[in-house]
Amino acid sequence: MIGIIGAMKVEIEELETYMEQKEEKTIGSVRFVKGLLDGREIVAAVCGIGKVAASICAQTMIMAYAPDCIINTGVAGSLSEKAGICDTVIADTLVQHDMDITPLGDPPGMIEGLGIVDIPADEKVASVLKEAALQAAPGKVITGKIASGDQFVASSEKKDFIVNTFNAIACEMEGAAIAQTCYSAGVPFGVLRAISDNADGSAHLSYAEFLPEAASAACKTIVGFVKKYSK
Ligand code: ADE
Repeated sequence: MIGIIGAMKVEIEELETYMEQKEEKTIGSVRFVKGLLDGREIVAAVCGIGKVAASICAQTMIMAYAPDCIINTGVAGSLSEKAGICDTVIADTLVQHDMDITPLGDPPGMIEGLGIVDIPADEKVASVLKEAALQAAPGKVITGKIASGDQFVASSEKKDFIVNTFNAIACEMEGAAIAQTCYSAGVPFGVLRAISDNADGSAHLSYAEFLPEAASAACKTIVGFVKKYSK
């Protein structure tokens, strides 16, 4: 079984239209939809925005469905000139840009419990995501570090901080939390996002305009991934 998590309904609802034999179950605050996509078992959920909601959803999914892998999909702000609107970014690593215990001597982003800053995505999952994106995604496909934090990044100061500190190519608000949850549980995971904005002063306008198109672009790749991925 493949688990798919999006933060918002718009990031998951198109995927549900491809599913057959759907079975819904709400656990805690999260509604899970299990079913078949192209004959393969998947479970999809909308986790809500932010790292806490994302972690709750990922851990619940792992305990209730024991997925072989989990994919986090949706939209992201671009931190790189290489990634334009509706292009696809795939994480090779993820970082929590708002994790900061530097006053105690740790480097920015250090996750004390794991002893790492960058959480590596599963290489096989990332490579199948890339294959699927190269076939299905409308724009360019770029692999690199994705930075997550409990902030919608919409200023050049914040953007510059994340780029200069972590060298990330895109920012969003859930991927690295799902990464930490899966990494801790030993569940292979990947993060694929389509760019909705440039994480700068006009990000809110671009986001409002391109959210549906970018979410749909990401969904098409996820459908391709499900068809291709085998353990
Ligand atoms: N998701 C899409 N765009 C974003 C941004 N600029 N900051 C955080 N999350 C996002």
